[in-house]
Amino acid sequence: MNKYQEIINQMTTEEKIDLITCNGPWHTGYVQRLNVREMCLTDGPNGVRCENASAQATDKHNLHGSYSATCFPTLALLACTWDRESAHKIGEQLASEAAYYGVDVLLGPGINHKRVPVGGRHFEYFSEDPVLTSELASEYINGLQSKGVGCSLKHYLGNNTEYNRFGVNVIIEERALQEIYLKAFRRTIKKSSPFTVMAAYNRFNGDHCAESKEALQTLLRDDIGFNGAVISDWDAVHDRVKALNAGCDLEMGFIDYSGHKQAVADALKNGEISQETLDKSCERLLELRDKCFAEKGKPTDFENGYSVAYEAAVGGMVLLKNDNIFPLANSDFCVIGMAAETPRYQGEGSSRVESFRTSSPLEELRKIYGEIPYAKGYIRNEQFDESVLNEAKGLASKHKTAIIFLDGDDYAEEESSDRKTLSLSEKHLKLIDGICSVNKRVAVVLQMGGVTEMPYLDKIQALVQSFFAGEAVGEATAALLSGKCNFSGRLAETYPVKYEDNPAYPYYAKEWEKLEYGEGIYTGYRYYDTKNVPVRFPFGYGLSYTSFSYSDMKIIRGKNKTKVSVKIKNTGNVAGAEVAMLFVSKPGADVPKKELVGFDKYYLSSGEEVNAEIEVADEDISVWDTEKHAFEVRGGVYAFAFYGNTGNIVAEKQVNNDNF
Ligand code: GLC
Repeated sequence: MNKYQEIINQMTTEEKIDLITCNGPWHTGYVQRLNVREMCLTDGPNGVRCENASAQATDKHNLHGSYSATCFPTLALLACTWDRESAHKIGEQLASEAAYYGVDVLLGPGINHKRVPVGGRHFEYFSEDPVLTSELASEYINGLQSKGVGCSLKHYLGNNTEYNRFGVNVIIEERALQEIYLKAFRRTIKKSSPFTVMAAYNRFNGDHCAESKEALQTLLRDDIGFNGAVISDWDAVHDRVKALNAGCDLEMGFIDYSGHKQAVADALKNGEISQETLDKSCERLLELRDKCFAEKGKPTDFENGYSVAYEAAVGGMVLLKNDNIFPLANSDFCVIGMAAETPRYQGEGSSRVESFRTSSPLEELRKIYGEIPYAKGYIRNEQFDESVLNEAKGLASKHKTAIIFLDGDDYAEEESSDRKTLSLSEKHLKLIDGICSVNKRVAVVLQMGGVTEMPYLDKIQALVQSFFAGEAVGEATAALLSGKCNFSGRLAETYPVKYEDNPAYPYYAKEWEKLEYGEGIYTGYRYYDTKNVPVRFPFGYGLSYTSFSYSDMKIIRGKNKTKVSVKIKNTGNVAGAEVAMLFVSKPGADVPKKELVGFDKYYLSSGEEVNAEIEVADEDISVWDTEKHAFEVRGGVYAFAFYGNTGNIVAEKQVNNDNF
């Protein structure tokens, strides 16, 4: 008998039911009599939101009344760093700040697949590729949990959009489920052993995720081998007896759960729940307390948090177009757009952080170039105003270069609702047109959590996607535009020419009660590449102030793995970082044209060369066989290729698996 079972044997039924139920929105139950402490669970993925009960609660759940903490770039930007070390460092700093505030489990990271680009929480998620998502999520979690603070890998399963999120029934065919939607969870759980997984609100194949035995027992525990605790999303449990029997160990939420507690007590009496089931959940929750060993209240360093946030922001912003505009050679430029003065650096909803301190692009550019002139260009969340536009046009006509800062202010990128469009607002588009009519050197810097259409691309001369870059947004933006730092971000999501080109578009939001993932495995670049659909910017795209060459690619086949190496050289005049992105084309007519199987980021000074080595495990080149209901590595020819930062092949080799 283990130590947890000894404690459980001393517990009354009532104490056990207290343990599996929250005690307020951010704390678990506890058993004073047996020294079983309460735990604190709180958001979020890009910063600690610890409720400050004394703060003026500005909303029902006091999401905006919290203590200040570092606001890191949201995970959409972190994904574009392609940098495991950056993810690990953020995890470690999050742990330090969480422990300072007494938090045991931080409710993140969100790793839901980016299927439909209008997804309201896409700023909170990583990528349209499960390998990129899981590699970075694992490092984030390892950084966090190595310091004794737990994570909650979320939102399991199929919570890919906010559309009817509390009730929609998500239906995913078997191969897409295994090769795409479960894959990020499978790889992340294998590589980081998350202390908890959060069961999502939606239904999966009929049952609410928190009540689905198929999702929580068969797929998560039996198939994937997860052995931590499953917690519900907040108020995601409707039938607590069904949820407990399905394997949902801890019910979290905002409402009073005495009714659910009574239902469990009744079910124990009438045999609907076995004592063993209840004890198993208690055991997982007792073990969770021991895993969350961080010393609570230990002082943290928010300035270190700021510098970690800054480094990640610099490494993840993406330069999409640059016709000799950046780096800014001198101060003959003006800045336009409210987002320059009051930047948008995070999304809305449960992930929101009261940031420790922020910087704005305008003030940071002025520190480098002096008193740069500025015009608002538009008024956030207000109708188009011709006079505001004309003031900006007047300014732009007097300077060599005009830099326009835009956020998606008129539509939400927030939890609980998806966007209706990928377009910028009318007034933003009018501002771009207006500035381009009086100036021939126009740059646009976007502060958006996700994908947007760019019909104006041919009219402008430079374009940066700076995402929701966290509290260091200003300093990071200025460092990159000035050339103090070099861009090295690469897109983690395809930017289609128009929303309707997206493969999920025909299947999304057609029926309120159901979302059927009709596009199957052909999601994101797997679709655009295979079906030859032109895109605005491909997955992996991102320019640099320098250039890189690839040579001498080699493939060595090992036992259940393939090692691929290639020489990468910085052939430009400035230091920079190259992301080696390795894709595979598997044998067969029923597979995507290419799929990411490995990557690494190399920081190289001018002229420096490195021998990049990437190891690919067989499970990452396998195909789900729907007859055998298992992954298999097919016989035949595998083409491995490195794609450069503009979406083209820069090195490729084939290997025949018949003699693997
Ligand atoms: C929310 C979110 C989840 C968050 C939780 C606590 O509804 O779906 O991501 O961690 O509730 O705020």
